[in-house]
Formats: sequence, C-alpha cells, structure tokens
Amino acid sequence: MAAQSGNTKAGENDRIPRHIAIIMDGNGRWARKRGLPRTAGHAVGAENFRKIATTCKNMGMDYLTVYAFSTENWKRPTEEVGAIMKLLKKYLDEAIETMARDKIRMKIFGNVEGLSAELQEMVAKTDAISAGYEGFQANICLNYGGRDEIVRAAMRYARDCAEGKAPAELTEDSFSSYLYSAGIPDPELIIRTGGEKRVSNFLLWQCAYSEFYYTDVLWPDFGPEELEKALEAFRIRERRFGAV
Ligand code: IPE
Ligand code: IPE
Ligand code: MG
Repeated sequence: MAAQSGNTKAGENDRIPRHIAIIMDGNGRWARKRGLPRTAGHAVGAENFRKIATTCKNMGMDYLTVYAFSTENWKRPTEEVGAIMKLLKKYLDEAIETMARDKIRMKIFGNVEGLSAELQEMVAKTDAISAGYEGFQANICLNYGGRDEIVRAAMRYARDCAEGKAPAELTEDSFSSYLYSAGIPDPELIIRTGGEKRVSNFLLWQCAYSEFYYTDVLWPDFGPEELEKALEAFRIRERRFGAV
C-alpha cells in the first residue's frame, strides 16, 4: 500500500504532514483554573483555532481538521451548548468575511441538519466560497461523531445501490467517498490537547494509520510553539503501515 505513505511531502519543508487533525480539548479546565466560566475557555479556544489554522497554512500544510463539537457534546448543560453555538456562529460569520481574502477553504464535517437553520445557512455559504478556489483547507467537525459518519456513509451507499447508482462491490476506496472526508488524504498526525488519552469518537475510519500525539497542555495554551513540538515528535517516528 503506497497510498498512505505518499501522504507526507517527504524531504520538503522538514517533513510537514499534508494533513493534521486536532482534538481541541481542555477549554473548560483552562477557564476553571482562572476562576472564569467554562464558556470563557471556549471563547479563547476559538481564537486559538484561528491562530493555529494560520500557522498550519503558512507552514504549507494542505488540510487541518479540528474537533469543535461532538455528537455527544449535546449532553452538556443547555447554557454551555448555547454559548458554544453562539461562538460558532460568530466564528463562521467572521470566516465568511475573511476566507476569500485569506484564501482559506473551509468545510464542515458533521450532521449539519442537526444544527440551527441559521448555522446551516452559514455552512452553505462557506461551502460556496470554498468551491471558488484551491489551497489550504480547514475542516471543522461540528455535530460530528466518527460512528455517526460511518453509519451515514453506509446509509447513503445503500440508497445509491437501491437506485442502481453504485456498484454492488464496495471497496475501502469507494466507501471512503461516502464519508465527510471524501477525497481528502487521511491525517498523518492526530493531536489531542488537555491530557486525556482517548479518541472520543473522532475520525474513527480515517485514523487507521495516524500517529497520535497527546499533550497535557490545555487547548487555549496550545500555541505555535506547542504545535512545533508535536511536529518534531512526528518527524522522528517511523511509520511502517504494517510492513517490517
Ligand atoms: C473542548 O474543551 C471543547 C468542547 C468539547 C466543545 P472542553 O469543554 O471539553 O474542556 P474540558 O475538557 O472540560 O476542560
Ligand atoms: C472531545 O472532547 C470533543 C471535542 C474536543 C469537541 P470531550 O471533552 O467532549 O471528550 P471526552 O468527554 O473527554 O471524551
Ligand atoms: Mg473535554
């Protein structure tokens, strides 16, 4: 399988991965440590995403995928969910204003139908702007769950089969084309901030051969120098893809 090993631009840019993914965890604890409400942590976390996305783009990465809100995060108190949704709206609003200027493509991975009509409209807008050019792409996982993504892909494939639009034989490649990440190489590196060492339903299909980097640093404190440490750790790992 040469496919995955072809992901990394070996030898270029000190071996910058084409695609990294981040579980942006620790906003609540960051706020609590400062005696602030959890929502203050989410606000600083959203600002940090902007900084890290710009850093990744400037490094020459092609894709950055981040976990912003999971299908399980609805279990949080209504006020916290409301505050996160408000921040997402503000973020998307600003992104719509600036993404054309900054040449950043943006895609939402997740069950968009489960979001408010207003957010759905904004997602449609960012899709339309992104279609206009090529270059760095930020994927924002919103109302996203890895299992949900796989089940939805299976349902869409079944529908296409019933309508005679899909070949009866399903391969890993053809199944991948039904996922939110269709056409995007798997992330070579997945970072989780905030100290937990679990996947929390993130990119279950796509992480098959990803390297994992865990750090205790809380997301609002994860600046470009912390990203550089993660990339340094990635560079010295040897990826074998099942071979010897
Ligand atoms: C991650 O930070 C952001 C979301 C899940 C929306 P948390 O809110 O999970 O922060 P901690 O883990 O409670 O510190
Ligand atoms: C994962 O963080 C989801 C996001 C970062 C959006 P959580 O804080 O929700 O994960 P658990 O609950 O610790 O597994
Ligand atoms: Mg958390």
